[in-house]
Amino acid sequence: MSGYLRTGIRRNAKVCVTVLPSGKTVRISSGSRLLDAVLLTGDAIVHKCGGHARCGECHVLVRSGGRGLSKIRPDEREKLENIRGTETLSRLSCQAVLGSREITIELITQNRG
Ligand code: FES
Repeated sequence: MSGYLRTGIRRNAKVCVTVLPSGKTVRISSGSRLLDAVLLTGDAIVHKCGGHARCGECHVLVRSGGRGLSKIRPDEREKLENIRGTETLSRLSCQAVLGSREITIELITQNRG
């Protein structure tokens, strides 16, 4: 099927991403990293390792639309297992790739003491 890079990701398609708690929404290309969508909103998110699944600082909770994201790969899963406070909705935004479904996420790193 031309136009599809892989299931759920359409070339040149745009997807809406809403970031809580600010409630800002951006439209970004399908196939972009979730981290790039957050950065596009202007909301603060720490990403010390530059998107290599090493620091865990880009940890977010996926509140809706998570089925549209790429699957969790072993390096992301391993990092999530070693971060305090992760749950089933957790993703590393630098590893999660957007498909074509609208998604809402919550930033949590900044809320921790
Ligand atoms: S930016 Fe470091 S794990 Fe995502």
